[in-house]
Amino acid sequence: MQTLKWWQKAVFYQIYPRSFADSNGDGIGDLQGIIDRLDYLKDLGVDAVWLSPHYPSPLWDCGYDVADYTGVAPEYGSLDDFKRMLDGFHQRGMYLILDLVLNHTSDQHPWFLESSSSLSNPRRDWYIWSDGVGSNPPNNWYSAFGGSAWEFDPVTDQYYYHYFLKQQPDLNWRNPQVQEAMFNAVRFWLDMGVDGFRLDAIGTIFEDEGLRNQSAPVTQTELYRLVRSAKSPSERKWIDRVWREMYRHQHDLPEVHGLMQALRKVVDEYPDRMLVGETGMIEYYGNGEDELHMVFNFPLMDHTRFTPGGVKANQKERLKRLPPKAWPCNTLNNHDASRLGSHFGDGVHDEAIERIALALMLTLRGTPFLYNGEEIGMTNYLLEDIRQFRDTWGIGRYLTEIEEMKTPPDQALIYANQTGRDKVRTPMQWSNEANAGFSPEGVKTWLPVNPNYQKGINVRSQQKDPGSLWNYYRRLLRVRKENPALVAGDYQPLEHTPRNCLAYIRQSQGDGQTCLVAINYNAKSLSFDLNQCGKIKKTLFSTEEKHLHLKDEISITLAPYEVYLAEIEE
Ligand code: GLC
Repeated sequence: MQTLKWWQKAVFYQIYPRSFADSNGDGIGDLQGIIDRLDYLKDLGVDAVWLSPHYPSPLWDCGYDVADYTGVAPEYGSLDDFKRMLDGFHQRGMYLILDLVLNHTSDQHPWFLESSSSLSNPRRDWYIWSDGVGSNPPNNWYSAFGGSAWEFDPVTDQYYYHYFLKQQPDLNWRNPQVQEAMFNAVRFWLDMGVDGFRLDAIGTIFEDEGLRNQSAPVTQTELYRLVRSAKSPSERKWIDRVWREMYRHQHDLPEVHGLMQALRKVVDEYPDRMLVGETGMIEYYGNGEDELHMVFNFPLMDHTRFTPGGVKANQKERLKRLPPKAWPCNTLNNHDASRLGSHFGDGVHDEAIERIALALMLTLRGTPFLYNGEEIGMTNYLLEDIRQFRDTWGIGRYLTEIEEMKTPPDQALIYANQTGRDKVRTPMQWSNEANAGFSPEGVKTWLPVNPNYQKGINVRSQQKDPGSLWNYYRRLLRVRKENPALVAGDYQPLEHTPRNCLAYIRQSQGDGQTCLVAINYNAKSLSFDLNQCGKIKKTLFSTEEKHLHLKDEISITLAPYEVYLAEIEE
């Protein structure tokens, strides 16, 4: 444990600044709101925060379209507020990492305004420009957010490339000046004391230099239709293959690794900083020490439901493939994905399943990332009217459904809610007062507040209830901190367990501690022998009151959906 770095021991918590806490009553979260909640975070028991983009932005992609890499969006505060916030984290022994969007800028960023102003502008080559083919775009590439990846610019009579929205032109990372400018921004924050970065969409940074056409057998709209109708695993596999082919020349080109190595060198000039990449690909660890400190275990998050077999297979595969010295990183939700209970729940035992989810995050080997609101069980909130949508991707999907696919509006709204990400970005639910205590009464919040804050899904009500999900989070976060094997230990799955039980050992030789984690994924109780691992020395935690004092047992009966943690004696 002692040899671990802070980011290996830490539990991270993602803050989506627009939705976290509104301190000035304008309906939008802000940095002062975060400052006001630093003690909340400390008390909850998280150690580090990943802050989604806080930079000035025209907000076509909710801040992931950055117009100034060294500024603060005026509606969030000032650079001074930022420094106060950073100090506030550090004073409490916490860490702060920022979101770094390397692939693209906003089309309002001065670099792009210059680049698009004329063919001879010195920054012309900072973005990907190309002539069309006749009256068509340079090739048949798609944007991940729908439609062609090329936008025609009538001023200079050329097209520019955008993997995401047309308001997010891709930078040309083959131009060394781009790297230099971006690395200066990186240094700006590192010099200030920021502890690292979550790297946005790194897979998309480079694209085929020859702009070769892709050869997927279907169009993007056809693929949308197929995704919707796919039922069998083989259909889904086929869709994955087609998807990969469609974006083959736009994704995960080998050159990204060279860039990650260069960025790692910059970060390593500063003591104790870290990088985590928005990718599930283990290759981005490099040799384990020369690219990213961590990448997310997205394959686990992408499971449609939890099964012990699924988790075991995931761990087996990933841990085996990690290069030496690489450190795993697990997460089950974020601002792009579904809320935990809405994704993994079965509609009946959702809260029990949320508890299991947290237990997994805090006891699997690796650094956990939590998402604001999951500690109170916030759920997806499906918007009722397309005019409430703020996520351009969701809106675009609605329009494609209506205009191209001729889907009836009520059905199109369902698909737009499914694709769009507003459902997981609604304001944090702090209390059962008006607007869930996020903004004062009468204020129109930037996205509607999920009314289920009135039904106990809010921080204050749950703080008062010892049996709440919030108190469960707080307790389990402490158990993790107090038991070094849960942080530093290796991971050994137990093989002889009932089908619906997941059990594993976390053993840290250096700390002289061995822990058992046992989870019942089932609405029925089940039993298993402990003779394969030893006997219980001390129970550390259980969701079952009556199991809290188990000791010296050599077998165990788990209650439905029980999470049970113990120190064991071999
Ligand atoms: C990442 C972000 C997502 C954003 C996209 C483009 O996937 O997480 O929110 O829309 O990159 O920047």
